Formats: sequence, structure tokens, C-alpha cells
Amino acid sequence: MSLSKFEPNDDILDFVIKKANGLKGLVDTNLEVIPSQCIQPKEQRLDKSQIDNQESIPTIDLSNFDDLSVEKSIQEAASKWGFFQIINHGIPIEVLDDLKEAGHKFFELPAEEKVKYSTESYSAGESVLMFWSAIGEKDEKVLEWRDTIRHGCNPQNDSNLWPSQTRNQVLEYQKWATPLAKKLLEVLLKGLDVNEIDESLEPLLMGTKAININYYPPCPNPSIAIGIRRHCDVSCITLLLQDDTGGLYVRRTKGDNWIHVNPIKGALAVNIGNSLQIMSNDRYKSIEHCVSVDSNRGRISVPLFLNPSPDSVIGPFPQMLKDGEKLVYKHVLYSDYWDHYFTKRPSGKASLDFAKI
Ligand code: OGA
Ligand code: NI
Repeated sequence: MSLSKFEPNDDILDFVIKKANGLKGLVDTNLEVIPSQCIQPKEQRLDKSQIDNQESIPTIDLSNFDDLSVEKSIQEAASKWGFFQIINHGIPIEVLDDLKEAGHKFFELPAEEKVKYSTESYSAGESVLMFWSAIGEKDEKVLEWRDTIRHGCNPQNDSNLWPSQTRNQVLEYQKWATPLAKKLLEVLLKGLDVNEIDESLEPLLMGTKAININYYPPCPNPSIAIGIRRHCDVSCITLLLQDDTGGLYVRRTKGDNWIHVNPIKGALAVNIGNSLQIMSNDRYKSIEHCVSVDSNRGRISVPLFLNPSPDSVIGPFPQMLKDGEKLVYKHVLYSDYWDHYFTKRPSGKASLDFAKI
């Protein structure tokens, strides 16, 4: 495998992003200390003293998905926690295992292969895209410790352009996960007194779909880096498959603590994103979350994002508003909100402000 070497004076953004070596490529050069461009400012690191080991987010058994009590637990978890895990959701374990394995295979590829999928400008409409997250002004950009490949799952996207290492596994997962996500959205809408998803609601709730595969390589200085900074997803909902490494933390709605999302074999995590919090006028909560990294183990995670279509106008559903209920959000064009979210990168909950009245 031919790998360009990283030397201390090299331009790290060039090495990691432009040449597509990724953070994995950096680690593979037997790096002992992380470069300064990967050191997060204090407020973006995970403060271990703020981890609450007593609490955990709810786990919901979907064996009897149509039971009223199951629907109630989903709606309650979305209001109280904004983040929960689901088990017995019907997706075969092999489909999940094959997907994680495919992720490893892709990120193992040499940079010369991976560079075909990377571009320097982030665009929402691509069929496939490898990208990195360097946040900050020009010379002060700080890199998150993660390599990501995004598979666009929309009619205009072409899965033939996806890497052969991930194509079939992502397609198979998509086949199982999309109806599951739709059913979850239906239950969530029912809790808002909005009828089931008909043709007019589908573009609003799941008009844009994407499956990312994240690889978080082992990190020599995990306490000063971060895999993903604290953020709220811009989506309606996100379904997340994680491996057994751990490292995903969610912030309590009240207080300052972080709770670990303990990996459960075969489970998926589900979280409410900003778009559904806005549509629900705050009934459902989009919760801050972040990913820490580990010095020994790499980690794979696979989020499926269900987003509004770019031309959707998002705002509180009129039919759910109670008499005299105060509107927290105005109606905004989703593509404007998306642009704001990814260009301004507002931190955590501040990412909702754009739509606030
Ligand atoms: C995300 C995210 C969590 C994880 O991609 O938005 O929060 O565990 N991922 O990778
Ligand atoms: Ni997220």
C-alpha cells in the first residue's frame, strides 16, 4: 500500500482532506502526538467530570410496534429525552454487521482510491461524498477526529457511483431502515395529532435521505480531541447504528451532564433532529450530542438522516397547536436553514435560533 507520509511541517488540511489520507492516514504514520490543528478548544472537549454514569436513555422494544403502549413510549421518549434506543426493530443482525464491516473495508482503502470520492466543497446533492469537518476561520480551523463518507439516497442520486466496498450493504440497509424510519415518524406525528404520512407529508419529513459512515480512528491524545463536536442534528429524525466501542454522549435536557449511549448489540439509536423540534413547536426535543475518541480502538457508526426536501417550508404544524399556544418558531425554507446550519455552524442548541420567532 503506497501512502504519502505526513511530516511535521506538512499542511495537515492538504494531507488529510485534499489528498484524502484522512485522520486514519495520519494515525497510520505512527503518529505519537496529534497535530495542533486537531486540538480542540477547551469548551469543545468532553469534560469527563460532567459524565453522569447513573442515567441512561430509554430502550424501547419494538416487538409489538402496533401496541398503543409502544407508541406512547416512543412519543414520551421523544419529548423527554429526544434520544432513545430501539431493539427488536426487525432489521436482521447480519444486515447491520455487514454494513459496519463494509465501512471498515472502505476506510482501509489507500488514499489513492478514497480520493475519488472526496471533494473540497461540501454539497448536499452529491450521490457520494467523502468529507471532513474543519471548523473555524481560515488559519484557525480545527479538525474533528473522524473520516466520513456520505451516500445520498434520493431519486436523483446514483448508487452506481458509490464505492463497491459499501454499495450493496448500504442499499440493503436502506431497504430495511427506510420503512422503519417511516413508521417511527408516523408514530411521532400521531403524538402531535397529525395524521399518518401521506404523499404531501413525505417530502417534508423524509424528502432527503443520506446514509453516512463515520470512522473514528484511534487517537493518541483523546482528551484534547473530539470525534464530533457537540451538535444537534438538522434532520427530522436520525437512526444511528454504532459498533460496540462506545463514545457517543448525549446531553441531558436539564442540567449540564452528559449520558453515554451504551452500545446494545443489534440496537439502533434514534434521535429527534432540529427540523422535527421546529415542526412540533418544541414538543419533541433535539438533543445535543458528541462523540469522544479512544486511544486504542477505532469506531464505526452509521447515521441515516431523514431530512425535509430542500424546497420544503418547515414550521409548527397548525393542526397540533392548542388554543392560545405560543408559536416558538416561524416558517422557514429548509434549504435556507440547511445553508445557515452548515455555513455558520452554530454550536449545539443555538442551531435552532435561525427559526425562532
Ligand atoms: C452525527 C452523529 C454520532 C455517532 O453524525 O450527526 O451525531 O455516534 N454521529 O457517530
Ligand atoms: Ni449527530
